[in-house]
Amino acid sequence: MNLQNLTGTAKALVADDKGLLAMDESNPTCNKRFAKLDIPQTMEARRSYREMIVTTPGLGECISGAILYDETIRQQKKDGTPFLKVLTDAGIIPGIKVDTGAKDLAAHPGEKITEGLDCLRDRLKEYAQMGARFAKWRAVIAIGGGIPSRSCIEANAHALARYATLCQEAGLVPIVEPEVLMDGGHTLERCGKITVEVLRTVFHQLNSQRVILEGMILKPNMVLPGLTCPLQEEVKEVAVGEQQYKVRLTDRKQDELEDVQEVADATVRCLLRAVPAAVPGIAFLSGGQSAELASARLNAMNVRFKLRLPWALAFSFARAIQQPALEIWQGKEAHVSAAQQALVHRARCNRAARRGGYNATMERI
Ligand code: 13P
Repeated sequence: MNLQNLTGTAKALVADDKGLLAMDESNPTCNKRFAKLDIPQTMEARRSYREMIVTTPGLGECISGAILYDETIRQQKKDGTPFLKVLTDAGIIPGIKVDTGAKDLAAHPGEKITEGLDCLRDRLKEYAQMGARFAKWRAVIAIGGGIPSRSCIEANAHALARYATLCQEAGLVPIVEPEVLMDGGHTLERCGKITVEVLRTVFHQLNSQRVILEGMILKPNMVLPGLTCPLQEEVKEVAVGEQQYKVRLTDRKQDELEDVQEVADATVRCLLRAVPAAVPGIAFLSGGQSAELASARLNAMNVRFKLRLPWALAFSFARAIQQPALEIWQGKEAHVSAAQQALVHRARCNRAARRGGYNATMERI
């Protein structure tokens, strides 16, 4: 393991106010999203979609790294150029999702354990040889009546730590993603309490498995109220400092009136209580928030706390970057350019959010 390379890659992933693009949906997840838009659920459609993404002009100005799926890392553009080359030519570091999915945890109804440790050493070696420089593993923690259990949190944290050490042994930076899900009717406070417990357990396990904290990135959820509660408003104006944001809640049912500042405060408070200062960067998942809300919340965290925090606060969004582009693309060649504009727009909004410079006027362009 070359420590300098590891820490260099970890730093590069959060440098220059850029962030990660998670384009690592498994085939079933990608197909589900395609089905909603009547896009054929074929390998060729997935390849065309990923070609549209990786060839987006200007993407490398805002995106430091792209997380790929096993099928995608082996694919090429129509003209035969490997996606890995397209990305590296654009200055984007390629990464790879290496877990094999969240499965039911035995004897724990409603809870999941992420699998993929078997033969992981060999798979990591192959991906590193192909040119990947970082990897991702997602654990999911559901909130509900009597859950999460302590045993579910510990089992997932242990697997994350085993994965992370294997990554570092192979020279890959582990993205450690313990996602506390938004589904449910829980409050923001409950999400915060559980997120702190999960993160503390994860770091306990990372330390005991001898993970080098300087050579990893944490990918957590933001602290949010659950989704399944009455819709408050379709659109609301939110002030952060002197800036006004118009945030859309059309696709969200909120448990309680929450706003951008409240989420920013609760999220940073939680991270300060649980994440060691040696970690170079925290890159949030979007988790089903609307694209605008994800940008506004990341922006508020950076406006209010950036200068006081030991780690960079960045993004590693999938839906909050890709969804608008996917809805425009719809599998049609003629829509590629418009979809790419929507994609790079979201990437720019999120880069601006890292600087605390995102505002509602960016959405009117
Ligand atoms: P979302 O941003 O859509 O939550 O996806 C992030 C991710 O990588 C899930 O593993």
